[in-house]
Amino acid sequence: MSSNLPINKQIEKYIDEHSLKLHPVQDEIIKYNDTLGKKKKLQISINQCHFLYLVTKLFKPKEILEIGTFTGLSSLSMCIGVENDSKITTIDKNKETSLVAKNFFEKAKVSEQIDIIIDEALNGINKLISQKKLFDLIFIDADKENYKKYYELSFNLLKRDGFIIIDNVLWHGEVVDKNNKEHLTEIIRDFNTYVKNDIRVENMIIPIGDGFSICRKL
Ligand SMILES: C[S@@+](CC[C@H](N)C(=O)[O-])C[C@H]1O[C@@H](n2cnc3c(N)ncnc32)[C@H](O)[C@@H]1O
Repeated sequence: MSSNLPINKQIEKYIDEHSLKLHPVQDEIIKYNDTLGKKKKLQISINQCHFLYLVTKLFKPKEILEIGTFTGLSSLSMCIGVENDSKITTIDKNKETSLVAKNFFEKAKVSEQIDIIIDEALNGINKLISQKKLFDLIFIDADKENYKKYYELSFNLLKRDGFIIIDNVLWHGEVVDKNNKEHLTEIIRDFNTYVKNDIRVENMIIPIGDGFSICRKL
C-alpha cells in the first residue's frame, strides 16, 4: 500500500510555485496579514485558498456561509470561484478585522456578493436559521470550542448534498500525539470522532494547511 508523501516546507513552496496564481487581492491580503505578527497564523494557507477556489468552481454553490471571516482571505478565495449571482454570508465578531475584510472585498470588486455579519457566531447562525436561510456550502473556521455547535447548527442551514468544510482538524498534527492532553487538542480529537460517527454525512480529511474536513450531507 502506498502512503502519502510527508510535506515539508520545501515541498510546500514547490507546490505553491507550481499551482495556480493568486488573485492580486488575495496576494494583498496575505501581505497585509504578514504585518500582523502572531495573528498571521489565523489565515488559511495558500494551498487551502486554491482548494476553496477549485471547490467552488467545480461545485458552483449559489449560497455560501462562512463562520470566521478574519481579514477576508477565505471568503475571497471562494468568491472568485463562484458565478456572479452567487452570494457569501460571512460571520465574525471582530469589528476591526471585518472592516479590513470589507475594504479588501471592495478592492476586489466583490463586495456586492459578500455580506459580512459582525456578531457572535452563535447569534448570527441562529438568526439565519430563524430567517429559514439555506446554503450549499458552509465553511467553519472560528473558535474551536464551539466547532461541534457550529457543525450541528449548520445542518439546519445546509441543503441536501451540500458540503461543510471545517478547518484545523489536524491541529498542527497534535491530534495523533497520544501524550498531548491539551484542551484544544482534545476538543479537535473529539470533534473529528463525532463527525466520523455521524451517519448524516460522508466525510474525508484532506491534509492541506492545518487539515480540512470535507463533509457531504446525505
Ligand atoms: C482562524 S480565523 C478565520 C480565518 C479566515 N477564515 C481566513 O482564512 O482568513 C478565526 C476568526 O473567527 C473569529 N471568531 C472567533 N470566535 C468567534 C465567535 N465566537 N463568534 C464570531 N467570530 C469568532 C475571530 O475573530 C477570527 O477572525
